[in-house]
Amino acid sequence: MVAIKFVVFFVAVTFVSGKFVHEMKMPGKDIPFTWLNCSTNELKIVVEELKLSPEPIKLGKNIILSAIVRVKEPVGLDERSPVNVDLTADVVKPGQEQPLDVCEYDEGHCHFKNVCSRFKGKESPKIQKELGLPYKCPLLTGIYRIPKTTFRIPELEYTINGVFNVTIKITEGKTQIGCLTFKFCLESCY
Ligand SMILES: *[C@@H]1O[C@H](CO)[C@@H](O)[C@H](O)[C@H]1NC(C)=O
Ligand SMILES: *[C@@H]1O[C@H](CO)[C@@H](O)[C@H](O)[C@H]1NC(C)=O
Repeated sequence: MVAIKFVVFFVAVTFVSGKFVHEMKMPGKDIPFTWLNCSTNELKIVVEELKLSPEPIKLGKNIILSAIVRVKEPVGLDERSPVNVDLTADVVKPGQEQPLDVCEYDEGHCHFKNVCSRFKGKESPKIQKELGLPYKCPLLTGIYRIPKTTFRIPELEYTINGVFNVTIKITEGKTQIGCLTFKFCLESCY
């Protein structure tokens, strides 16, 4: 679920940021895709493996994603503790020091309140069906594997490049149940 959200979000971010940034591409060295657990506590949802290629990610080209996510306790059992997903995201363009806050420009793509209610009565999207991933609450205890899956990153009217830094936080009521930070280079980062 986290990984799928990420892909959805990534696409959203590239659209959003494309609206206000355009610059000539510069050749050069690129930073690799990296990710981290952003909590030292044992959380209910833990990403054990996450791979994304190629490096850098290119607009209009495919990305290949694979992931292993462990859910240690059911998520979304109690409607009184809604599950929220919140992101922070910024992009640093080459030659600039000040990161650009992506979420400032589109709150809607960074905050997903009560995600369980969004699934209710909805058909599972094709990609989730194909991967055998659940699309309802509660999300049961288990290990969810996303095998190497290809997604297409849409092309934009503008060119955007730089280092994206994204943090995904999942909460259930007031409790943090998942946290992941990742960084990737879009187009080129020099
Ligand atoms: C994040 O935590 C999980 C579970 O403890 C571990 O398997 C994984 O390797 C960690 N990821 C990173 C990048 O440290
Ligand atoms: C990435 O974002 C997180 C959360 O907003 C922040 O704590 C961290 O310092 C950022 N890392 C970099 C390298 O900018």
